Amino acid sequence: MSDTTIHRSDYRPPAWRVPQVELEFDLDIDHSEVQARLHLACDDGEETPLQLDGESLELLEIALDGRPLGPLEYRLHDATLEVPGARNGSVLSTRVRVQPAANSALQGLYLSGSRDDGFLLTQCEAEGFRRITFFPDRPDVLSRYRVTLRADATRFPVLLAGGNADGHGALPDGRHYACFVDPWPKSSYLFALVAGRLESIRQDYTTADGRAVEVRLWAEPWAITRCQHAMDSVLAAMRWDETHYGRNYDLAQFHVVATGDFNMGAMENKGLNIFNSKYLLADPDASTDEDYAHVEAVVGHEYFHNWSGNRVTCRDWFQLSLKEGFTVFREQSFAADMNDPTLQRIADVTRLRQQQFAEDAGPLAHPVRPDSYREIDNFYTATVYEKGAELVRMLAGHLGDAGFRRGCELYFTRHDGEAVTIEHFLAALGDANSADLSPFLAWYGQAGTPQLHVESVYEATEQRYRLHLSQTTAPGPHAAHKPPLPIPVALRLLAPDGSPLPLRLHGEHAAQGTDRVLLLTDTTAEFRFEDIAARPVASVLRGFSAPVALHEDSTAADLALLMVHESSGFDRWQAGQRLARRAFDELCGGDRRIANTAWLEATAACYADPRWTDEPALLAEFLKPPAELELAQSLSNWNPVAVRTAREDLLMRLAETLGAKSLRARHALLQSDERGAQNGTARARRRLKNQLLALLLHVDREHALALAQAQCTDAPGMTDRLAALRLLVHQQADAAAAALLAFQQRHAGDALALDKGLAVAATIPGEPALARVQALLAGPHFLPHNPNRVYAVLGAFAQANPTGFHRADGAGYALLAEQLLQQDRINPTTAARLANAFAGWTRLEPVRREHLKDALLGLSQESGVSRALAEMLARLVGPA
Ligand code: BES
Ligand code: ZN
Repeated sequence: MSDTTIHRSDYRPPAWRVPQVELEFDLDIDHSEVQARLHLACDDGEETPLQLDGESLELLEIALDGRPLGPLEYRLHDATLEVPGARNGSVLSTRVRVQPAANSALQGLYLSGSRDDGFLLTQCEAEGFRRITFFPDRPDVLSRYRVTLRADATRFPVLLAGGNADGHGALPDGRHYACFVDPWPKSSYLFALVAGRLESIRQDYTTADGRAVEVRLWAEPWAITRCQHAMDSVLAAMRWDETHYGRNYDLAQFHVVATGDFNMGAMENKGLNIFNSKYLLADPDASTDEDYAHVEAVVGHEYFHNWSGNRVTCRDWFQLSLKEGFTVFREQSFAADMNDPTLQRIADVTRLRQQQFAEDAGPLAHPVRPDSYREIDNFYTATVYEKGAELVRMLAGHLGDAGFRRGCELYFTRHDGEAVTIEHFLAALGDANSADLSPFLAWYGQAGTPQLHVESVYEATEQRYRLHLSQTTAPGPHAAHKPPLPIPVALRLLAPDGSPLPLRLHGEHAAQGTDRVLLLTDTTAEFRFEDIAARPVASVLRGFSAPVALHEDSTAADLALLMVHESSGFDRWQAGQRLARRAFDELCGGDRRIANTAWLEATAACYADPRWTDEPALLAEFLKPPAELELAQSLSNWNPVAVRTAREDLLMRLAETLGAKSLRARHALLQSDERGAQNGTARARRRLKNQLLALLLHVDREHALALAQAQCTDAPGMTDRLAALRLLVHQQADAAAAALLAFQQRHAGDALALDKGLAVAATIPGEPALARVQALLAGPHFLPHNPNRVYAVLGAFAQANPTGFHRADGAGYALLAEQLLQQDRINPTTAARLANAFAGWTRLEPVRREHLKDALLGLSQESGVSRALAEMLARLVGPA
């Protein structure tokens, strides 16, 4: 394959800009025509001939300044169009034909749903606009858009594009049109249109700066009743961005549309956000508590992009984290404010540890700002998103709330209407605070999770506590030697009674509070605390103050003390997770005796503590050891079956410690007032209740299964119903098959609920999974053209079922390999994303590792693989 690698260092500003563009669409299912008028500006004295991107376009007409061009006056290549005659100030017109219904890649203009009932829509990020018209399809070309949509009025009664509505009306032959003008210059990846039979709900909003906004949510008729939660979330997000960042919405309309056919979660197109229905629709009977939370968070995320992404965008795709990492941080802060900040932080850190740490430790590791790519779609990763968000959090922590806000305001005003880099972001944050943040830039350029080692010595006679910090980052695919990074380590020292100690560092005259953030800038550093009367317990990396892996020398008793006495719930939880991990290591180590009972005892103490009745959701998190995939990460000889066995063992021991009787009683108590209500308290109680049920299974299987069976039929809401169904199916209970069938019948016709049922079946642990998945793939419900369905079956199997997928005989890998090739012919983006499931291979035990490697090598030899999948395979196999 030819090397089409793009390097960050090759960036050049565009020679040609398009300050203004007019688009006219004649829309239909099989064929649509797009007329574009590009008003061109040249910045390099016309030295570089005009070159436009264009893929899968049928060129019908081309004219320059009104004059049709002959075949020798332009050059049409596979993916580009060259027009050497273009001059500064020229207007280039093209007319192209595209095929929405045949577009199974779901990039550019495509059909969602069926030919009869479906609707047309676009997805342009990152490089989909070039599948709509010829254009310099790069984020640093900013244009004002004027868009006219024309279509049959009966088949496409609703016509939407981003921007302010600017007239609509009837046309001959039963057709109609609508015009939109977007006054804000934007990159082509932010263009969007939607056309079809959609219904809407509407709410009016007035921005803090007094602008009237019509907010409309659109969905297919059956789904419109499920949009109210998303509407509430939009309005809350608008208010939140005004309050916390001083950012107002800037158009007269804000449209949000739900589609069942979408590669991603959602997309922030200017004025016309488009959502995977999974992240927009919510209904008590069909959605879990988690779904409700996701809708709120994703709605917030896409809305926040209006400033962090749209008004200020990325210079090139290497800067992706500039908008995504920042916006994930904004989304997380919003969700924390709307709900419980402790639980939110737990969820965010868990996700980072499970997904990003794994990515950073394997062959797909890359910096938050990558140095090169072949297909940018492959870099919408946990590293760019989640680690990127942690870096912004780190900066925010460093500057403090007020300083960070000042910095953001400077960033938004200074760069409004520009396409910028991560350096610009750091400079604005720094300038507003007279701080030099440039040392933090190193975090963006270095892959791998820094390992932070903490060693402490208490010198009783000197009443001194010495804390020695050191960092290393393992070499990875991008660098052999990795220099130290600035790591802020938030710290408290607790006295033996659990109270925080006043802190006086060596050289300071007096103690200054009980909280410190130590900045480790070198490979090692020592911090000496004076006047410490007794050996303290260090609470390090409080709040997870930097995205590092912590290795502390605390004793089990220290961690147990933190579990009870840390004033922050998040840090109590962190201590518990560390203790659980130690118990797991012992169980994994071999003889199944567990010498270290500290986790069990401390957890039981929390469970028994009446203070916890006020925090059922947090208690539920305490009762969960780290997930299998997280536990697997530190193992170099990963055997997924052994990991599961040890983790199940841990759960059993915890259940025994808490006692069947108590688990039954508390479950019953929580069950007694379950009405399926959607509020924080009801959700928190459900979370604890279902964790109790999962524990009860280990000590009173029959009773737990009976409860699950009842819950599956009687539960008023999806959260409980699905939790019970999962338990029955994963336990292969006698009632499982009937329960699954009943679930599917109850939710017949609801694609999102069906996805949930299929994912439950595909995650059945161990041996039986393969046959189940094969049956699902052959059955009537598998829809290879629908990404949600593909992820529900193959994604669940390969990415959320470690013992089912990583079979010792390699059959799971063979199945995925075969499916990847099929999927690749339909939708390369989903195929490439599924290939992430292979990323853990270097840590597997030898037998599985060989099988997986064989599967990868086999795939690498296939010809005709998409660029996206080919790049994933090449990176997975590694520099050969
Ligand atoms: N800009 C992205 C959508 C996107 C992702 C477009 C990849 C093209 C390629 C959007 O803002 C986004 O980040 N969506 C996330 C959900 C979000 C809540 C993290 C997604 O789609 O997963
Ligand atoms: Zn985003």
